[in-house]
Amino acid sequence: MNDPNGLVYYDSTYHLFYQYYPDSNVWGPMHWGHATSNDLVHWKNLPIALYPDSLGYIFSGSAVIDEHNSSGFQNGNEKPLVAIFTYHDIKKEKAKRIDRESQGIAYSNDKGNTWIKFPGNPVLKNKGDKDYRDPKVFFHKESNRWIMPLAVGNHLEIFSSSNLKEWVKESEYGKHEGAHGGTWECPDLFPLTVEGKEKWVLIQNMDRGSVNGGSGTQYFIGQFDGKTFTNDNEPSKILWLDYGADNYAGVTWFGSPDNRRIFIGWMSNWDDYAILVPTKNWRSAMTIPREISLINTRDGIRVSQQPVEELKKLRKENVSVTQKTLSDSLIISTTHVEKELEMSFDLSKSASTCLGFVISNTLNEKVVVGYDKSKNEFFIDRASSGKIDFSKKFPARHSAPYKASGVLKIHAFIDTSSVEVFIDNGVIVMTELFFPTEDFTKVTLFSKGGKTELVNAVVYNLESIWDSKK
Ligand code: FRU
Repeated sequence: MNDPNGLVYYDSTYHLFYQYYPDSNVWGPMHWGHATSNDLVHWKNLPIALYPDSLGYIFSGSAVIDEHNSSGFQNGNEKPLVAIFTYHDIKKEKAKRIDRESQGIAYSNDKGNTWIKFPGNPVLKNKGDKDYRDPKVFFHKESNRWIMPLAVGNHLEIFSSSNLKEWVKESEYGKHEGAHGGTWECPDLFPLTVEGKEKWVLIQNMDRGSVNGGSGTQYFIGQFDGKTFTNDNEPSKILWLDYGADNYAGVTWFGSPDNRRIFIGWMSNWDDYAILVPTKNWRSAMTIPREISLINTRDGIRVSQQPVEELKKLRKENVSVTQKTLSDSLIISTTHVEKELEMSFDLSKSASTCLGFVISNTLNEKVVVGYDKSKNEFFIDRASSGKIDFSKKFPARHSAPYKASGVLKIHAFIDTSSVEVFIDNGVIVMTELFFPTEDFTKVTLFSKGGKTELVNAVVYNLESIWDSKK
C-alpha cells in the first residue's frame, strides 16, 4: 500500500481508504483498499472499495459527505458519500501521452461500504499537464461550494463546483513558493483557529528533494477566500511537517467530530526506498493518527501535531522511572520493556552536550534519538539499526534544526519497525522506520558531557492494536 485516501468520518466510523495493489508487494495497478475504525486505534480490514477500469488505475483522492445531496446521488436515507480520485491511464502513459491523468468520482449510499462509479467520468479532463492528480475536496461554507485543491506538477490548482460533477478552475498557487525539489503531490487545505484568528493550512507533499532526502511534506500558512490561497510567509520560507524520512502523502479527515483536524501519513519514503524495505507478504504501514493544531511560537505560527488522545487506551503498565538526575546513561529496563512503547521525557537544566534515548537489542543494533545542543538540532540516527543494506539511502542520521529552551519535552511512540517523535508538544516531529534483526527491547536514556534533570519520565508498554479489546 501507499497513500491514505478518501479519509471521511460518517456514522461514527472513520474510513481509511488507501493506495493498494493486492497482487504484489510492490507498486502496481492501483486500487483503493479499505479499512474502518470507531476510535482511530483499532482497524477492521474490508474488501477493496475501488478497482481500476478502462479509464485507468485509481490514484489518490478524497471523500466527502454530500450533506444536501448536491450531487443528486442519494437514493435512500443515508447521506451519499462521494469519492473524488485521479484516474491514471497506463495506456496513455505507455503511448507517452501527456493527458494521462483526469479526475473521476464514485458514490456510496450505504455508509461507504460499497461504491458505484459515476457513468459520466471523468468529471475533470486533462488539458495538457502530465502530473494532474490527488484531488482533496472540502465544502467551503462561505461560498457554499465544493473546493478541490489539485496537485499539478510544480504547483497547486484550485477548482470549485456546486454539484461535485462540474468543476471550474479558480486559481493557481505555488510555482514560486516553498520547496520545489520534486513534483507536488497530495495537497490538503483546511482552516484552523489560532488565538481567535482563522488561518488556512495548505499541506503540500513532494515526491523528492525533501528536507532529509526523498519524499516529504511541506506546509504553508495563509488565507483562503473561496478562490485563492495566499501565503502569510515569505515565498522562500519552507515549513516541514515532519523532519523524519518516513511520513509521506499524509492528509486529514473530512468531517471528524468536534472540529478535530486529524492527519495520517504513509510511513515510508517513495523516492528513496519504499519498494525495497525488507518486509515479506506485506509492505508499508500508516503513521499513528495525529491531531493538528496551530500554535504561536517564537518563530511565528506553526503547525503542531499530537498523537490522538484515543491512543491512551493502548497503555498497559507504566515502567516508572524514579531517578531524578540523569548523568551519562540510565538503562530504563532490559526486562520489562516490550517492543511497542509510548515514552515521555521532560528534561531540564541540562549541562549536557547531547541527550536523548537509545532503543537497542542484544546484537547491539540500535536507534538513537536525541538533541544535540552544540548543533541546535534534534536527530534520529538509524545507521546501525539492523537491516540497512537494502538501500544506500537508508542508514543515516537525520536531523531537525531546533533551539530548545526551558524544559525539553520528548514524546515518542515506538513500534516493531518505527519511531514517531513529537518534540515540545509536536512543533517538531520526526518519523522514521528501522528493521532490526531482533526486536528492540532495551531503552537507555543518556546525557553526555554533563547532568540533566529528569522532571518527568514515563514509559508505557502498549497493547497491540490487533490483539487488544476496545
Ligand atoms: C504519492 C502518489 C500520488 C499518486 C499515487 C499513486 O505517493 O504518487 O501522487 O496519486 O501515489 O499510487
